[in-house]
Amino acid sequence: MQIRCANSGELNTLVTLDKISNMTNWSLNDYQNSFNNKQHFIYILEEHGKISACIVVGVVLDEAEILQLWVESNSKRKGLGIYLLNYTLNEIRKKHMVLRVFLEVRDGNVEAINLYKKVGFIEVGRRHKYYNVDAWQFDALVMQKEFLGFL
Ligand SMILES: CC(C)(COP(=O)(O)OP(=O)(O)OC[C@H]1O[C@@H](n2cnc3c(N)ncnc32)[C@H](O)[C@@H]1OP(=O)(O)O)[C@@H](O)C(=O)NCCC(=O)NCCS
Repeated sequence: MQIRCANSGELNTLVTLDKISNMTNWSLNDYQNSFNNKQHFIYILEEHGKISACIVVGVVLDEAEILQLWVESNSKRKGLGIYLLNYTLNEIRKKHMVLRVFLEVRDGNVEAINLYKKVGFIEVGRRHKYYNVDAWQFDALVMQKEFLGFL
């Protein structure tokens, strides 16, 4: 298993895998925008040469935001999500001196909410009707994690 930054030739694959793994999936344009943004980082987790998971994080000064995270459908519930998330939190803390991390997650997305709570995120707000999925609207929970103490 290895984690590395995605390259431009992999963005189409990310779109395909995201679509089958994630209700609030991104378009090619979304991935391209993040790829071209110097403050965004797209990390992928590979197993036997195949992409199994992806996370996108944005960093501004000492704050970061988890913008996207998914584990490919057949690889869920094997510890890959928490592994990739912890790796990313470590990277942004060490390399970018991030002190605080935010994210938005669809209300009712128990898998993701449990995962984020498990690594220390707490709920700090709610955005009403933030997500449109097909004909449905969902609130977003805003979650935050603070890094305490020095490395
Ligand atoms: C959320 C997601 C990334 C979790 O990835 P994963 O690799 O399956 O999760 P892990 O195996 O690392 O599990 C870590 C923890 O997450 C929580 N979790 C994961 N799947 C869960 C499920 N089906 N039900 C309840 N809790 C779950 C648990 O707390 C779990 O710890 P545990 O195994 O000790 O109970 C994955 O379900 C996913 O891709 N979901 C669709 C995309 C998405 O919603 N992304 C979030 C965007 S904000």
